[in-house]
Amino acid sequence: MHKTKILGTGMFVPKKVMTNNDLAEVVETNDEWIYERTGIRQRHICSNEGGEFPSDMAYNATLDALKDANLEPEDLDMILFASVTPDMKLPNSASILQTKLGIKNQCACLDIAAACSGFVYGVNMADTMIKTGLMKNVLVVGSEMLSQEVDWKDRRICILFGDGCGVAVVGRSEDESSDGPEILASCLGADGSGKEFFQQTVGGAVQPLTPDIIINREHFMQMKGTEMFKVATRTLAKNAKKVLAMAEMTLDDVDWIVPHQANIRIIETTAKMLGAPMEKVIVNIDKYANTSAATVPMAFHEAIKDGRIKRGDIVLFDAFGAGLTHGATLLRY
Ligand code: UT7
Repeated sequence: MHKTKILGTGMFVPKKVMTNNDLAEVVETNDEWIYERTGIRQRHICSNEGGEFPSDMAYNATLDALKDANLEPEDLDMILFASVTPDMKLPNSASILQTKLGIKNQCACLDIAAACSGFVYGVNMADTMIKTGLMKNVLVVGSEMLSQEVDWKDRRICILFGDGCGVAVVGRSEDESSDGPEILASCLGADGSGKEFFQQTVGGAVQPLTPDIIINREHFMQMKGTEMFKVATRTLAKNAKKVLAMAEMTLDDVDWIVPHQANIRIIETTAKMLGAPMEKVIVNIDKYANTSAATVPMAFHEAIKDGRIKRGDIVLFDAFGAGLTHGATLLRY
């Protein structure tokens, strides 16, 4: 069995920023309500003119991550692309990204549809495949253009989301020492019985798009916020404890928690349930809102770049999302 580690990270957000005050001109809301209830001040929004679609954002973020990892695109054995907003239905976004990166090595390309947990699912899958020797370097992407999927007339949902991308290159750790960088433990799960808490039922095989559906604005994402909130805090706390137990560690051993950024109150409640001080928690929801699969890698990357997360630190990824999917990863960076 090989050891695995995060070799490099990158992120990209579109240029356009939409503040809460900008939103207040579109729907009946205000900065105070949004900030108090969610912790969000602004979000980045992709241009419809192109150049900022999910695979474009992933391309830019990947160039940085590969540089960080000291690798070339050809060194990748697989691309795992987590997104609920792929460029198109066919081909998958991972293959589109492979082409944009100019990769000729036929590396495996797979999209992951696990909503906000997608990146953590990808890291877990990459970890397993590298540990067994099947793959050496796997690019895990979380890239979302949620601005396309929210109803900009529904103030309950359009205030919550933003666009962006975060990526990580997961690879073999050659450092065999007991305190070397390593993915220590991970868990994945899902509870389909909560599927109606967060869904977008239209546009698939069961209910193809019709003009009536579009006129009635039934094709957008729909969420039961209160129900999601309750399940989220319970699940995040449970999974954090689970991976710590797997690695025979306690919260005192953890330097940084990188949670999914859905709502600052979910993050604070979870930290409280775990007994973790907020100083250990990476938060950037104020700048980017909820970017689904991209929140964890974006927050992780930012905290590395600004010097908070350092090599050797123990880091916990903790995510949940529609499905309801969930997952956590514990690693020594
Ligand atoms: O990534 C995973 C998916 N996301 C989540 O899991 C998010 C989980 N849920 C949440 O973050 C929160 O439940 C929300 C932020 C979505 C909602 O917060 P809340 O504190 O649960 O508010 P609420 O839905 O109970 O609404 C309270 C009031 C309502 O008015 P009444 O009925 O009390 O008169 C809403 O109509 O706030 C009103 N309201 C707003 N007011 C101003 C709802 N949205 C807005 C808004 N601006 N944007």
